[in-house]
Amino acid sequence: MATIFNDYDTAAKWIAEAKQAVAFTGAGISVESGIPTFRGPDGLWSRYDPQVLDLGYFYAHPKDSWEVIREIFYDYMEKKPMPNAAHILLAQLEKDEIVKGIITQNIDGLHQKAGSRNVIQFHGTAQRLVCTQCRKKYDLRPGMLDTLPPLCESCGGLMKPDFIFFGEGIGPEEYQKSEELCKEADLLIIVGTTGEVMPASMIPYEARKAKVIEINPEPSRYTEDKSDIFLQEKATVAAKELIRRLDNITPFHWMK
Ligand code: APR
Repeated sequence: MATIFNDYDTAAKWIAEAKQAVAFTGAGISVESGIPTFRGPDGLWSRYDPQVLDLGYFYAHPKDSWEVIREIFYDYMEKKPMPNAAHILLAQLEKDEIVKGIITQNIDGLHQKAGSRNVIQFHGTAQRLVCTQCRKKYDLRPGMLDTLPPLCESCGGLMKPDFIFFGEGIGPEEYQKSEELCKEADLLIIVGTTGEVMPASMIPYEARKAKVIEINPEPSRYTEDKSDIFLQEKATVAAKELIRRLDNITPFHWMK
């Protein structure tokens, strides 16, 4: 079936009728919360060399890497980015038992901040550090990144953020949970990803039974071959449009 563009009525109807909806999100869903994407003209990788997230380079240059990592992934946290209408829509759809889970490539924790509970952090999280020697994990506390590189309180080993670096494997648990969620899905909502990074980019293809709605201001790798409806728009604008229509279909009390 050819991809339908900007059919919000049908998209809202599919959402209201879904029993097992799953969301797959990327950096684009958090742009309007003040967190930049990785690719594209304003993306992080146009300003920073992604080698700092290459495991080999990180071990060879831990202090230099951490200085850039702190600037990219931690300094903006001081601005306390908040979830936007798209994060909130997905959280509410989970409360209404339409969305069964979110598979996110993001490490920003905004889905959880919006109230989503079943969130598979496919690339890990920035809110935790892990010791590269004894594998002990620590929730991020203020002051932990004052001295770089941070060292393990238990064994003195080098710590890294508990998210996936280039050259690092995806956690088997995240992989398995994502596959299970997709296998049962009757609707997949893809938001704000280019779909360029393996193996995350293969996850939507596990949702073989699902109808697919994609939200992105730019076409992605999924637009032609996977998406049934493409809402070519920013995440918050599309979310508000969907909420307006969902409100007419089944009263979503919370959005009034
Ligand atoms: N709303 C929705 N989507 C948006 C918005 C917006 N306001 N602004 C930009 N986008 C889209 C872009 O069009 C692009 O398709 O978000 C996408 C961002 O793509 P990437 O920067 O490649 O981010 P992502 O797909 O999440 O990257 C995957 O790459 O660097 C690694 O580990 C990192 O998880 C990340 C992975």
